[in-house]
Amino acid sequence: MNNYDKKNIQLRQLYNINKDCNPCIFGKIEHNHKVFGEGSPLATLMFIGEAPGADEDRLKRPFVGRSGKLLDKIFHHLGFSRNDVYITNIVKCRPPNNKTPLPEEITPEAKKLLKDEISIIRPHVICTLGAVSTQLFFKHPIKMSQVRGQQIQFEASKIILLPSFHPAYALRNKDAEKDLFNDILEAHRISKIDN
Ligand code: URA
Repeated sequence: MNNYDKKNIQLRQLYNINKDCNPCIFGKIEHNHKVFGEGSPLATLMFIGEAPGADEDRLKRPFVGRSGKLLDKIFHHLGFSRNDVYITNIVKCRPPNNKTPLPEEITPEAKKLLKDEISIIRPHVICTLGAVSTQLFFKHPIKMSQVRGQQIQFEASKIILLPSFHPAYALRNKDAEKDLFNDILEAHRISKIDN
């Protein structure tokens, strides 16, 4: 079996195991759907957002609303598509009123599921989108202004973290949109370098 099929099966199994349980507290809200990651199982670049919104909940796919359209536009300008990367969220169910998940709402189960997705994909680069997903990778409190656009190598893994702004913020701020564009350009470039 080739690597694509192997990883694809592992991802399907992972999502299947988690489809009926509540890896985050928002999963207990009745009409919510689980929105798992999507993209290429062989992606060398992975994007991690916060949580699904109303459009994502309805279509059961990550980043398909306005924020996702901005990502698609940037990818298109850079000559690739969402099928070439992997896109997921920390929290797999839509929080009420699209609220930002609080640290205590990101349960150990949600973190474990994300960790398992990362272990299967084994990307070269992870581009976190916004402060919530970026903070997850740090033990101490961070400010986006200090880490955005930086390439951060964690000793324990070969994966490079490149934090950027959340596209929802970039939609309201032209400078942030330029930064997001440049960060994705750089993240994509370094994800193609063999590690
Ligand atoms: N915002 C996120 O963080 N994730 C999505 O999937 C959509 C919007």
